[in-house]
Amino acid sequence: MEGLRLSLGGAAGGAHLKNISCHAFSTLMEFAVDARGIVKVYEKTSRALDGVDLQVRPGKVFALLGPNGSGKTTLMRILTTQLPPTEGHADVMGHDTVRESGAIRGLVGYVPQEMSVWTDLSGYENMLIYAKIYGIPSEARRRLIDDSLEGIGLSDAKDRLVRSYSGGMIRRLEIATALLISPKILFLDEPTIGLDPVARKAVWDKLTSFKKDFGTTVFFNTHYMDEADLYADEIGIISRGRIITTGTVAELKRSVGGEVLVLETESNGVDAATLEMVRGVASVRDVALGESELAVIADDAETALPGVMRILGNSGAMVRKVSMSAPTLDDVFLKYAGTRLESGGRLSDVSRVRKTIRRGG
Ligand SMILES: Nc1ncnc2c1ncn2[C@@H]1O[C@H](COP(=O)(O)OP(=O)(O)OP(=O)(O)O)[C@@H](O)[C@H]1O
Ligand SMILES: [Mg+2]
Repeated sequence: MEGLRLSLGGAAGGAHLKNISCHAFSTLMEFAVDARGIVKVYEKTSRALDGVDLQVRPGKVFALLGPNGSGKTTLMRILTTQLPPTEGHADVMGHDTVRESGAIRGLVGYVPQEMSVWTDLSGYENMLIYAKIYGIPSEARRRLIDDSLEGIGLSDAKDRLVRSYSGGMIRRLEIATALLISPKILFLDEPTIGLDPVARKAVWDKLTSFKKDFGTTVFFNTHYMDEADLYADEIGIISRGRIITTGTVAELKRSVGGEVLVLETESNGVDAATLEMVRGVASVRDVALGESELAVIADDAETALPGVMRILGNSGAMVRKVSMSAPTLDDVFLKYAGTRLESGGRLSDVSRVRKTIRRGG
């Protein structure tokens, strides 16, 4: 149970440090994560990280988006103090990951990519083991565990063996174990890998409400673009061990280029003079006339639309339908990484591995 071992390492090390007051520095702290020039070379040859610079502001949900093997897990292991970098350094919640690893472990919740709960124990029993590892006093354990299970929506299932849980319930239980210490920053490595859309949404609903209640910084790895799009305040794109760009979803999409307005018109409805006028509307970059549609490329389609509609109306062109398309994160990935981000392939392998562990095989 590789994931569990890693969790134990992180949690146990920090248990005795839980009384540290981090409030004073966390309110002043500029970055929850501040990584500079991180290089990681495995076995002297495999360069998993190739000079990572990354800053995440406190209280944000940050998604590290990248394909299989791009270095997401390696970076997360360095940030959670499980691995030392080969070069460079990183601060997490104001502490150096190598010199002050103990302090960081008391502030960090971590849910590994691999399964980190026992399938032959109940949800409650799993939580109890983690509570003991984290050094939570015995008189406080039951209430804390019950509250955590309630918060994550597992109260009704807490006495059932985990092997009877769905994949989404298991993931929520793993997240509940990480939340036992009320972490200042939560690291989630592929939090919804292998889950169906309903289970993914249930996991994110719980994470979103936890984040809202506690203002915790959330750092998650994913190769689901829609997940990064929906839930992240900011995104970093990683490819071959390098962060190739960061920003909000809107900023990244804008950086790809304009939005596209498609106006379906009656044929022959748009003449050359009208086209020229549309070209002159604020924010419009270009226009293209098809058989029965006019495509308008604009920096901001919403700004351009009223002006375009007015001109078409005045020219007598009948607009039957308007649609708007924006660049997707896949377009962003293509622009910066020079390739499409595929989410197939090894996803099924990971899902299979998780199932194998669950069966105890
Ligand atoms: N313990 C290790 N020893 C040697 N090479 C490793 C080790 N762990 C990872 N690597 C290599 O480092 C690179 C980055 O791996 P990492 O697991 O960090 O990527 P990832 O982005 O998390 O991938 P995935 O999406 O599949 O989880 C890969 O080429 C991987 O094979
Ligand atoms: Mg990984």
